[in-house]
Amino acid sequence: MTTSSGTSLTTIEDFRRQAKELVSSEGWSFYNDASGRRSTFRDSMAAFDRYVIRPRILRDITQRSLSTTVLGQPISMPICVAPAEAQRFAHPDAEVASAKGTADSGTLFIMSSFANASIAEVSRAAPGGLRWMQLYLFKDRRLAEHVVKEAEREGFKAIVLTVDLPLWGDYSFYKSSHATSASRYYHDPSLRPTNLAIDIPEVHDAIRSGDVNIRHYLAQQYDAPKTWDDITWLKSITSLPIVLKGILTGEAAMEAADAGVSGIIVSAHGGRHMDGVPAPIDVLAEVVSAVKGRGVEVYMDGGVRSGTDALKALGLGARAVLIGRPALWGLACDGPAGVTKVLSILRFELDTALGISGCTSIQDIPPSLIARKSYL
Ligand SMILES: Cc1cc2nc3c(=O)[nH]c(=O)nc-3n(C[C@H](O)[C@H](O)[C@H](O)COP(=O)(O)O)c2cc1C
Repeated sequence: MTTSSGTSLTTIEDFRRQAKELVSSEGWSFYNDASGRRSTFRDSMAAFDRYVIRPRILRDITQRSLSTTVLGQPISMPICVAPAEAQRFAHPDAEVASAKGTADSGTLFIMSSFANASIAEVSRAAPGGLRWMQLYLFKDRRLAEHVVKEAEREGFKAIVLTVDLPLWGDYSFYKSSHATSASRYYHDPSLRPTNLAIDIPEVHDAIRSGDVNIRHYLAQQYDAPKTWDDITWLKSITSLPIVLKGILTGEAAMEAADAGVSGIIVSAHGGRHMDGVPAPIDVLAEVVSAVKGRGVEVYMDGGVRSGTDALKALGLGARAVLIGRPALWGLACDGPAGVTKVLSILRFELDTALGISGCTSIQDIPPSLIARKSYL
């Protein structure tokens, strides 16, 4: 991909640099935000260097395939797109563009509850694409119920409940010199979480009343008790499979399996909420082993920036990985084509790494492929 100034974008890092040029400074600080000293954020990427790939040799790897399934649905490769809010900071078509770019790559798009585009718009833009809907829970259950019903109607195939945010996290964005930007974020209707502006009197009042707008209403709504009983409630209102996002321990994974969920996303929310939690790749094996034999698929996100990162996660037992920020960089650089290009770079790198490791498919990855450096 070549930019208007003639620079060619061939690596994920090229996309990051170019996106930084293109996205407004407020949008960039929101996307790049991480809590505290940013140590979980940094370590989520650095941690991949603690693992090595132990290649098999002299195998016929001429025919290779990256295809796999997630919750029984086929995808062209085990690299998917994580839910991320406020995509209009990156591109006017926001989630419509990223869903399309992801569907063109034949992989899974997870839409944020706080998306700027509507669920129906996204489904129209990528009718053949596999889509899951991310959910937060609020004091007024009608908000979550509306999102679930709309997602069901529009053909989304799973509900991803984010469980790492029982209360609003330590977002430095809202404390920074971008406080005025945060206020624009609150007030600019184009950045509003469209899908939560549902037809109930409280929402109408919030929109009508000058300085207390929908986003303030939602921030206040966010402060709701959330417990394992909520999984029972969620199961009672939907027959879609439920995936919990934001699990970082084997204990929580076992509780999730007991609660009857279909999938777990090992995730530190991109290091955005609480500094000091582990890098997801470091706890992946613990989670995989905790739910072994329980019929729960395990995915991971956080710091995946290359095909070898993805291979390490797959080798440690992830069924698929998700990318958060890299997809936003692609979106900022060239809308749907940019998202597709970012995914195609990662696809090429994963395919190459798989072949050089002596494997022909995702199912062919042996448990011994990845080792932690200290074990060698
Ligand atoms: C700008 C931004 C917005 C995000 N919004 C959401 C969200 O609405 N819901 C959610 O569950 N996770 C959200 N996340 C977290 C991502 O789904 C994912 O866990 C994280 O970005 C993965 O790390 P990576 O960015 O290093 O790939 C967001 C992340 C970013 C960077």
